[in-house]
This record gives sequence, structure tokens and C-alpha cells, in this order.
Amino acid sequence: MKFKLKEGLLLGAATAATQIEGGDENNNWARFAAEGKIYDGTSPTRACDHYNRFREDIDLMAEMGLEIYRFGIEWSRIEPREGEFDEAALAHYREEIEYMLSRGIRPMLTLHHFTNPLWFEDMGGFTNRKSVDIYMRFASRVIDALGDLVDDYITVNEPNVYSTNSLFYGTWPPEKKSLSALVKAYSNLAACHVHAYRMIHEKRAAMGKSREQTLVSFANHLRVFAPKNPKNPIHKICAALSSYLFQGAITRAMMTGKYIFPVLRRRGVKRGKYYDFIGVNYYSRSTVSGIADGVRENAPKNDLGWEIYHEGLIELSTALYKKYGAPVFVTENGTCDNTDAFRPLFVYDQIKAISETDNPITRYYHWSFLDNFEWREGESARFGLVRVDYETQRRTVNNSGKLYASIIKNRGVTDEAYDKYVSGLSYNIK
Ligand code: BGC
Repeated sequence: MKFKLKEGLLLGAATAATQIEGGDENNNWARFAAEGKIYDGTSPTRACDHYNRFREDIDLMAEMGLEIYRFGIEWSRIEPREGEFDEAALAHYREEIEYMLSRGIRPMLTLHHFTNPLWFEDMGGFTNRKSVDIYMRFASRVIDALGDLVDDYITVNEPNVYSTNSLFYGTWPPEKKSLSALVKAYSNLAACHVHAYRMIHEKRAAMGKSREQTLVSFANHLRVFAPKNPKNPIHKICAALSSYLFQGAITRAMMTGKYIFPVLRRRGVKRGKYYDFIGVNYYSRSTVSGIADGVRENAPKNDLGWEIYHEGLIELSTALYKKYGAPVFVTENGTCDNTDAFRPLFVYDQIKAISETDNPITRYYHWSFLDNFEWREGESARFGLVRVDYETQRRTVNNSGKLYASIIKNRGVTDEAYDKYVSGLSYNIK
């Protein structure tokens, strides 16, 4: 054995509805694509056709031995027009979840993962004050329809990435560049999470589920912000400020209902504990020397130029655990590697780091199960353990996926798996 899997660690994978389902034209990213805004000209209306192929995909997960699976539902299918719910869409997701359960996979449901129905987007999305009530009406309807089947929930995926890209940097729809819009979205999303946390617990209790059986949190995108020169006070201040603005304030507001600029308190939100686990999406480290984000030179990089820094996940998880005292679920972690040239090594190094150090991580959801529609990059940036040929929709398990399956089966990395999948691989240093 090269190393043994950490005792009790559950392994699985994550996806998001819009990135894999295909077929839905009623969301803001489908429209963005139709406007020609995706770099490679592709659209989420194709993606992996998972809406029709979910059984095949879940069968493949089961064959690979995945224990847990984080997936999303498409709001614009469920509520295609404001206040009108589509029972057939809800029945579809019920069938999908029942299928996961029948294959022995524990589902984690994400209520909101970046995309909005067009009617909601056009009323200002989460910058609109009414968005909290509107999101809650949707979330409540979903829990009524599916809540008896699912124990684990993510209310909102990466409120910081969503808000900054869409409203501050203007790189995602609706391409706004406004600090005041950012503050509104942060504040409303934090309120959505707090209210949804309470609502899910209440509804599940009414369904006869015990408090401990229901696990609710949000998926928090966290980055390490390191000063380029650790001795330079400007670099140090900029790193601390970036971390605070991008993730510090929003994390605190969502988890505890304690507010500090740039997140403002919304009606009905009290201080409290609004998490049953700490959900961490981790990808990379930023190296900071000023206001803008930077990347370390001469470091291992993935195909999108992001630094590969495995220790960051351990550092951030441990710091959050010390502060908030709940188990850490890695709700996303993975890398863009278009040819699966180094992903097996990435999987090996990251799971090794989790397994060999004393840290609070109890679940790991690899991003992603399948190659999928990677937002602005479209189909051109691949993150999957399983390769997707978008023309034929053929799935092929990558070496990284084979290694992952073998880690789950053997509860660690055997010498044989190491020699077959990892030995001889290296990262690109750029
Ligand atoms: C998002 C995913 C995305 C992944 C890779 C995360 O920020 O939640 O939707 O595909 O990063 O960029």
C-alpha cells in the first residue's frame, strides 16, 4: 500500500445541473451562450445530455463505487414562470434521486448553483430585495417534493464566486460591474441561506426525520491568499484584504448571521448557527502583491493556469474547523486537465494529503464526475473523472477515474494502482 484512506472518509463526486443536463433554454447561461458569449461557442443546452442519461451515469458511478454524490436541480425547469411549478420536472428529479438510492449512493442536493430562470434574472436576480422570498418559495417547494428522500443539502453554491463574477467583474451574466449590486447580492444570498437552513430543518422534522439526520450548509469557495513576498507589508495587507472581501465576511454572515461590510443584514435574520457541516470548494492559491489577483511563478499549474497547491485544502479546512467546530465536507475539489495527463497524480496527492494529516475532513466530493460545461470556457475545459465525447455522448472512464475507483475499493492506494496510474506522471511547471 502506498497509503491507506483516512478512517471513515467517504468518497464521491459532484456536478451541477446546468453543467451536465442539456436541453434547458430557460436559464440565464443558455441565453448568454445564445448571445455568443462562451469562449468556444458551445452552450449548456448540449452539455452531457444527463437529463436523459441519468440512469446510465448513475450506473457508472455505482460501478466505480462512489459512496456519495452531490448534484443540482435546475430552477428554471422547476419554476419555468414566476410562481408556476412544473410537477413533471419535480417528478423527474424524484426519479433520479430514487435511482441513486437504489444504487447505494447517498445524494447531496444543491438548490442553487449559479443559474437563474430568465424571469428571475430579468428582475435583477439576487440584487432584488424580493429575491429572498422568491428563492424561499422555490426552495420550500423542492423540499416538499423531494425532502423525504434526501438527507444532505447545499442551499447555495459559492455565493462569492457567483456574485463577484456576475456583478462586480462583469465576466458572467448579467455582466454588471457594480459594488452596490455586489453588496445586495451578498446580503440577499446570506439571508436566503439562513432562511433555507431553518426551513429545511423544520420541514424535515415534520416529515419525522431526526435533527441529526438532516445536514444543511452551503458550498463555500475558498482560496488561499498568500502574499507574493511574505516580508512585504503591502503584499501582506492586500492578501488579508482580498481574503476578507472575497470570503471572510460572507462566510461569517452565512454561518453565524453576524454581519459586517460588504454583507448587510436582511429582515428576519438573527444570529445563530446555520451549518451542520463546513462545505469547502477548494481549487487553488492566489499570490497577491496588489489589489488584483495573481498566480505564483514556477509552480505546478493546471490547464487553466491555476496553481496546484494541495496543502491549501488542509490549511483552510483546519482553520475553519478551529473557528466553527463542525466536520468539513469537501464539496468540490478537482482540476482542469484536458487530456487526463496529470489528474491521476492530482487525485493521488490530494487524497494522500487528506489521509495522512490530522485534519477535520470527513467527506470528499471530486469535481467533477463528468467533463461538463465549464461556464465561460464551455466544453473546452475538462474536469471529469470520466471523459465525455460531446458529439456522440460517449463516456469513457479516465485513468484518474480508474484510480479513484480503486482507492474506494481498496480503501487506499495499492502498489499496483500506483504503478498503473500514477508512476511517472508530473505537473506542468509554469
Ligand atoms: C464551481 C463549478 C465549476 C468549478 C471549476 C467551482 O467554482 O462551483 O461550477 O465548474 O468551480 O471551475
